[in-house]
Amino acid sequence: MRICNGWRRFLFCVPLIFFLPYLFSVIVLHQNLSVEEPQKYPKNKFDHLVLGPAAGQGLRDRLQCQGLKALNKTHFSKLPRTPDLGDSISFVTVFTIYNTSVSTPADDRSSKLVAVGNTSYSKMERSMAILNVFINFIEVSMPQSNIVILTDPASDLSIHRNNVNVFPIPGEYSRDKLMLQRIKSYIAFLEIRLEEQSRRQEVNHHYIFTDSDIAVVDDLGQIFHNYPKFHLAVTFRNNKDQPLNSGFIAVRGTLDGILRAKVFLQEVLEIYSSKYMKASRMLGDQLALAWVVKSHPSFDANRFTRPKAFMNDIQGASVLFLPCAIYNWTPPEGAGQFHGMPLDVKVVHFKGSRKRLMLESWNFYNSSTSPGISDMLCLILMSGRTKYDF
Ligand SMILES: *[C@@H]1O[C@H](CO)[C@@H](O)[C@H](O)[C@H]1NC(C)=O
Ligand SMILES: *[C@@H]1O[C@H](CO)[C@@H](O)[C@H](O)[C@H]1NC(C)=O
Ligand SMILES: *[C@@H]1O[C@H](CO)[C@@H](O)[C@H](O)[C@H]1NC(C)=O
Ligand SMILES: *[C@@H]1O[C@H](CO)[C@@H](O)[C@H](O)[C@H]1NC(C)=O
Ligand SMILES: *[C@@H]1O[C@H](CO)[C@@H](O)[C@H](O)[C@H]1NC(C)=O
Repeated sequence: MRICNGWRRFLFCVPLIFFLPYLFSVIVLHQNLSVEEPQKYPKNKFDHLVLGPAAGQGLRDRLQCQGLKALNKTHFSKLPRTPDLGDSISFVTVFTIYNTSVSTPADDRSSKLVAVGNTSYSKMERSMAILNVFINFIEVSMPQSNIVILTDPASDLSIHRNNVNVFPIPGEYSRDKLMLQRIKSYIAFLEIRLEEQSRRQEVNHHYIFTDSDIAVVDDLGQIFHNYPKFHLAVTFRNNKDQPLNSGFIAVRGTLDGILRAKVFLQEVLEIYSSKYMKASRMLGDQLALAWVVKSHPSFDANRFTRPKAFMNDIQGASVLFLPCAIYNWTPPEGAGQFHGMPLDVKVVHFKGSRKRLMLESWNFYNSSTSPGISDMLCLILMSGRTKYDF
């Protein structure tokens, strides 16, 4: 089982990952892409973009690329995006800055800088950069939406951007409790919304709870419109042990939706606390989520084998299951087969050691004279299997 998964790896494992290499190696900056890794640099972590062949070439429903040029213009054809459906959407993410005042000899700033483009980042700046790029992509893809950052009241987080609200929720945000705290924070947030919603019911305000290492590349408002019956939505993949990814949970902003999502998450929390506290401090929420779903009598786990959306009632909630291939796309790590990128991909998840690629992708998109999400998707498709240092 992988211990460091998703943004967890970033928050939890980065200290170790960064501690070791910089003890021994000189940072190679970015100006010469063909510079070889220094000897002692971890063999498979790269400090610059590495492009491989694009998967899925020749397949009809997959993105076709010619180098970094997309042959299919998939997103943002500048024509009207989804009609304004009247409802608004908030992205909600849990993010906290850890106290970095405890330092070790290798911990001093200069020895730990990592460069992306012309910018160097310390450890804390790296996690802020990820958060900022997360926000950037939402502003591009869903400019009408806003972003809520749930954080430790003790955390010194200040973000001054339009449509971004920092929302402190008391709790225990230490590294080894963060996944548990995240569900608690989600529940606390939904409780507050529930109270507000019962007071004024005019508009539906939907919520999408996500990891912060994702790029939203298309309008997600459609799911609330196209699947009008669900209370909450999660993403699944064909993976026996971890079929559900906890990095994307959509909640319909009706009284019923918020209430049932809250009850559902409370059940996940209870299973987490009672069964998975020792299993793994980082995957517990995912395991608990899968347990709640799979143990429901009416649930058929075979549905996870086909990447097609479906609904199932669980714990009194109508749950929509969305395929990761479109709503939480990430290439498999290692040498596993994969079949490229669906043309209608909506969310790219820069799991594990792909954080540098998230920043490089933004820089690529933002520096292009005619910004194209599709071209950027080719970059991601060609590079997504690489393990990076950032
Ligand atoms: C980059 O490195 C290659 C191989 O070491 C070298 O031939 C080339 O001149 C370098 N380019 C620059 C701009 O330094
Ligand atoms: C994507 O582009 C390729 C190459 O131009 C083309 O053959 C294919 O039909 C396109 N796919 C779709 C679904 O438009
Ligand atoms: C980095 O700096 C160089 C030299 O100042 C400039 O030419 C280049 O455009 C910069 N690159 C980025 C990505 O900002
Ligand atoms: C960070 O650590 C310092 C020194 O240990 C402590 O005084 C401070 O209260 C801590 N801050 C937070 C937010 O935990
Ligand atoms: C995008 O690029 C422009 C021009 O280089 C820069 O001024 C701007 O700050 C960038 N935007 C973001 C959100 O990084």
